[in-house]
Amino acid sequence: MPLKMICADITTLTCDAVVNAANETLLGGGGVDGAIHKAAGKELLAECKTLGGCKTGEAKITNGYRLPCKYVIHTVGPVWHGGENGEEALLRSCYRNAFALAREYRCESVAFPLISSGAYRYPKEQALFVAVDEISRFLSENEMLVCLVIYDKAAYRINENLASDISAFIDEKYVGEKPVLAVQSAPQESEPLLDSECAPAGAQAFFGRISGPASAAPRKKSAPRAKETSLQDALKQLDESFSEMLLRKIDEKGMTDAECYKKANIDRKLFSKIRSDKYYKPSKTTAIAFSIALELPLAETKELLMKAGFALSHSSKFDIIIEYFITNRNYNIFEINEALFAFDQALLGG
Ligand code: APR
Repeated sequence: MPLKMICADITTLTCDAVVNAANETLLGGGGVDGAIHKAAGKELLAECKTLGGCKTGEAKITNGYRLPCKYVIHTVGPVWHGGENGEEALLRSCYRNAFALAREYRCESVAFPLISSGAYRYPKEQALFVAVDEISRFLSENEMLVCLVIYDKAAYRINENLASDISAFIDEKYVGEKPVLAVQSAPQESEPLLDSECAPAGAQAFFGRISGPASAAPRKKSAPRAKETSLQDALKQLDESFSEMLLRKIDEKGMTDAECYKKANIDRKLFSKIRSDKYYKPSKTTAIAFSIALELPLAETKELLMKAGFALSHSSKFDIIIEYFITNRNYNIFEINEALFAFDQALLGG
């Protein structure tokens, strides 16, 4: 999953680089800056003293010292003064300059905090929008594993109208929790549905401690075929595997493989596994991510899911949120993941 969102302390993450939300002196401070300096040890400050500070919007790199990462990329976000003083452009340049250094130093994985959203008072919803927009833009052209770290989940904000729309949709559709039957996880892919270290109790209770794809409902008969498909094609498609239907849909949409898996927040390696194995069984989040990338309507989404052994069910809040976005034809997987994260659900991608 090229872009993951987790709630964690960034100083605990094992990756090639962590990004620090610093100030122009680079001599440490509070918040994530303080936590990184504390965990890295005094050698970090000693190296920072040699850098001569850093301008707002720019970035500089040091070693990680006692942190479980190779590098720290220090960037200085803008202080929020109402939004009319070039704050957004400066915040965007923080992400771009940090990525430029990560690429220069051949980092394969990088973790970002929500820059400027603490002491610098950048409104969290807007800081989140800029972060996800800049990261997804970078990932559309580059291969890297990026983790956006949300430290204070209670303060996490998505668009208020969107949040209330989704809550109303859940209230309307949700038929209450049914015990999620753990299924024999598919041999190829059985990652836990939620990052257990950050999944709140409610979510774990909701999903239980299962790993691997959970089918919320027994396998249904295949959905009625689209009228325009010939009987011959329909019969051929009936025994089409997930992988075959996926590749057929990519062709029908005129997409390249890369366009599809990047839009699905799926990494290249996983896609090539699916492409090369006709009977590959993906996780539910991976299967749905592809239907979002292909912008499939609900009926076709259900058909693609059924090929992977899953169904959408109104006893699952996760499934209802997916149905909400498809019904509203919003296929922006990063926006969907922001909403899933807000509702303590597993994220799309793989
Ligand atoms: N891990 C991950 N994220 C964290 C951590 C942590 N250990 N600690 C704080 N955060 C989050 C905050 O919840 C916030 O969402 O980092 C985000 C940025 O908050 P700040 O650290 O306050 O950074 P910023 O708003 O950019 O202000 C920078 O604060 O600490 C000083 O020296 C720093 O002067 C600079 C200013």
